[in-house]
Amino acid sequence: MAEDIHDRQKVKVAPSVLSAHPLKLESQVRQVASAGADMLHLDIMDGNFVPNLTFGPAAAKALSSMNLLPLDVHLMVSAACLDWAVPAFAEAGARYITVHQEVTPHLSRTLRSIRELGVRSAVALNPSTSPDFLPYVLDEIDMVLIMTVNPGFGGQAFIPAMLKKIEVVREMIDRAGVQCEIEVDGGIDAATAGEVVAKGATILVAGSYVFSASDPGAAVCSLKMCSRGR
Ligand code: DX5
Ligand code: ZN
Repeated sequence: MAEDIHDRQKVKVAPSVLSAHPLKLESQVRQVASAGADMLHLDIMDGNFVPNLTFGPAAAKALSSMNLLPLDVHLMVSAACLDWAVPAFAEAGARYITVHQEVTPHLSRTLRSIRELGVRSAVALNPSTSPDFLPYVLDEIDMVLIMTVNPGFGGQAFIPAMLKKIEVVREMIDRAGVQCEIEVDGGIDAATAGEVVAKGATILVAGSYVFSASDPGAAVCSLKMCSRGR
């Protein structure tokens, strides 16, 4: 039963354009799309929730208009931004919108508002955030994003303690019998991909491993290979 829900043969890869070369963005997106990437992960940082600034809705719309890959929008923004950011990124064409558990006391309301806009909803957990709240929102989400580094920057080292959290979240989802992806984000490479998939991850976000490679398409293929049969 659990294996039906969590099909390890179908692990998805979502390259994070945070690590793409800004002057080669279009060609690099085409490379990962041709190689079989499943989504494009877009990190939205507001300089407040995290110490970095990245993309706005116009960039999301431009990527979406390429019609190559669905957009996986990861909002690393404070509560004050959510009311405008959620509809703006929905309008820009997001397939998933992820909000952080840590930013709002009204998580359930925000998750519902994402679905009401026709977008798949997801919640992200920082490395120090307990997943204990998850059973109370599992009916309102399509994906859990487990941060495997502290959010804000690409190129950081994977935090091994997150393997246990992936396992715990996998058990929660299987016990509830719901359809819910487990996405991992941060420090994913050929070595860590197999480990997270073995614990139950179904979507791998990878930034520097993919876009620092001489061939980003080959890097996407290698992540898919590393996750097979785990
Ligand atoms: C970090 C971002 C990640 C980042 C991952 O805050 O959420 O999506 O791009 O980068 P790597 O794969 O280089 O750790
Ligand atoms: Zn991210």
